[in-house]
Amino acid sequence: MDESDLTRLSVSIVDVVEGRETEFHGLTKTFQTIFERMGYGRFGTFRDEAVPTRYYAVREWAGAAAAETCHRDVDVQRLTSTLYQIARVTHVVNGVRPPDPLRLLLDDRRTGVAEPDRRAGFDRRVADRGGPEGERRNRRDRRLGPRRLRASAGDVDLVAAARRAREHADAAFSRFKVGAALETADGAVITGCNIENATYGLTMCAERVAIFKALSEGHRAFTRIAIVVDSERPTPPCGACRQVLWEFGGNLEVQLANLSQETGTHQLKDLLPLPFDARLL
Ligand code: THU
Repeated sequence: MDESDLTRLSVSIVDVVEGRETEFHGLTKTFQTIFERMGYGRFGTFRDEAVPTRYYAVREWAGAAAAETCHRDVDVQRLTSTLYQIARVTHVVNGVRPPDPLRLLLDDRRTGVAEPDRRAGFDRRVADRGGPEGERRNRRDRRLGPRRLRASAGDVDLVAAARRAREHADAAFSRFKVGAALETADGAVITGCNIENATYGLTMCAERVAIFKALSEGHRAFTRIAIVVDSERPTPPCGACRQVLWEFGGNLEVQLANLSQETGTHQLKDLLPLPFDARLL
């Protein structure tokens, strides 16, 4: 593929409904034709070696502007809605998010710290602002948990990723399967599901599986989490998960959904008012 600085990459996992493969191949060809004719870039699908109905749809955009025009293209929109009827699509790489000063902020966050945070892999204390010993931060200086690095969430389909993760839940005792998908500040998606245990108490919730996986892989900044259960009622995270998410993710956006629709969006600070965290130690 072209390695020009302008090109961007988007990748989706496409699970085609059995028996609809021919239609899918037809759609793929039409997508390819439109991409070439309109100069959006290149479109290709790659079959998964292990799962016969799974494909990876790769779009190499000619540039961010081309991607945006493509998203507004009514022919593309029509094809996309047809695709959604014959396949489950999970966007895993979104190459057309606006540029993000992420790296700068990460470096910035680690400079000028008073003393390492004893309880976490990164330091959440801010520099000494010169106030008298023991004075609490106020106004602008007061922060609600770790800083969020991106103001707005990207458009990766987190709910779809959480639905997919839920399929791996091991809920032999409660039969209550939960899936979670956590978006990192640099756009990666890390999933989790609940894993139950015969002693019950060792059960681990989907949300904590997701965040512990993410932390263990070196991610330290997060923007959103999607949580999926098979229930009409909105099912927010349990208290233990709220605490852990708060300490490591800060004021995350929490998207709740069931198997067919979204059931609400919250900010974690509203789900965990008056939180306890490292700033109080
Ligand atoms: N569960 C979660 O995975 N997340 C929550 O926030 C609530 C509860 C799981 C734990 C247990 O396996 C099952 O749901 C029933 O409580």
